[in-house]
Amino acid sequence: MSEGGDGGPAVRRLDEWDEETLVALAEEYETPLYVVDLRRVEANCTRLLDAFPGADVRYAAKAHTGQSVLRTVREAGLDVECASAGEVERAFEAGFTGDRIQYTAVNPPARDLDLVVERWREHPGLTITVGAADTVDRLRDRGFDGRLCIRANPGVGAGHHEKVQTGANAKFGIPIERVSDLAEPWAAEFDLVGVHAHAGSGISGEDLSEHRELVRRMGDLTRDVESRVGSLEFVDVGGGFGVPYRDDEPPLDLDAVADATREALGEVDATLAVEPGRYVVADAGVLLTRVNTVKEARDATVAGVDAGMTTLLRPAMYDAYHEIRNLSASADAEPMPVTVAGPICESADVLCEHRPLSRPRRGHLLAVGNAGAYGYEMSSTYNSRPRPAEVALSETTVRLARRRETLTDLTELEQ
Ligand SMILES: Cc1ncc(COP(=O)(O)O)c(C=O)c1O
Repeated sequence: MSEGGDGGPAVRRLDEWDEETLVALAEEYETPLYVVDLRRVEANCTRLLDAFPGADVRYAAKAHTGQSVLRTVREAGLDVECASAGEVERAFEAGFTGDRIQYTAVNPPARDLDLVVERWREHPGLTITVGAADTVDRLRDRGFDGRLCIRANPGVGAGHHEKVQTGANAKFGIPIERVSDLAEPWAAEFDLVGVHAHAGSGISGEDLSEHRELVRRMGDLTRDVESRVGSLEFVDVGGGFGVPYRDDEPPLDLDAVADATREALGEVDATLAVEPGRYVVADAGVLLTRVNTVKEARDATVAGVDAGMTTLLRPAMYDAYHEIRNLSASADAEPMPVTVAGPICESADVLCEHRPLSRPRRGHLLAVGNAGAYGYEMSSTYNSRPRPAEVALSETTVRLARRRETLTDLTELEQ
């Protein structure tokens, strides 16, 4: 298991965060507040690089596109995978050079293609991954003949929830059995550099069978494409490295995942590439929220808090579990079943139900763990709730990385 060394322990649990620091941050910056620890981001990058020596590790920026995170990831030596023109712009802003950026076009709007192709003209090292022949036509129309990667739909998916399984979803990629035939003409027209697939999110240490199967299929595809068009630069088997959201879940054994990946891939000329997003940032982030109100409902004690599904969407969208800790209750307080609900007028706006927590009181501060990935990133302003602030911690500084949105921000765009 990848432990020790610069990468530190394989997981950072919620109760390992310094309570005093979190309480002080909530006092100073108010709640709801995201806290991201850049030291942990860096450590996670180091562990990935150590587990996959010689591979190209690309950070899937969609997990957290904050500049402080992107810069940390870049400095740690990862490349970046971007899901939109906006993410490509953010990556450039964070100092990534074009040759370290891969843009994955998923049903790309024309505006995205215009912008990315314009960027490619200035930075020809940029790679575009296509998941449809039609996208290739649209790129050709724009004069693109640069570095092209083909996203295959491998027919296998993996993940903690059906909504994050992409590998067999028709929306993503070109059916794997058609890729080689398309690769031949495209290799003559473009600089065909790689093939790609992503199974979904939540590769777990307990069962790597779907991951192995996806990689095996990608190995076969790579050999077939290489036999027809010559060597590829890379075979990208996607992200989806799971993190333990529950305290009793063991951390992912990265070395075991890496071994299984290499073994399933078999002999290929292409360099292995992986695209972890969640793994890089999830346990580097905590969400702080304050209790607004407590009530005894018919069958539950409900703590109404100032963060809800607009702040952290994962529980409402994926029934996702996040550890929650009452930082204001004394350590010996007897846990009781508590439902933590947000301020949004939706019944799905619940962070947990009947969870054993120290008795909440109005004004108590709660910490929600593993909130660094797809936390701020999926936040919205539904119910006219301004998005929260985010503080970034580094070795030497505590910095307001994103200011809290205001009501003025929300109405500013209206005409
Ligand atoms: C193409 C692609 N790569 C990588 C990822 C990252 O997944 P994860 O954050 O689970 O590692 C995603 C997630 O949706 C994705 O769509």
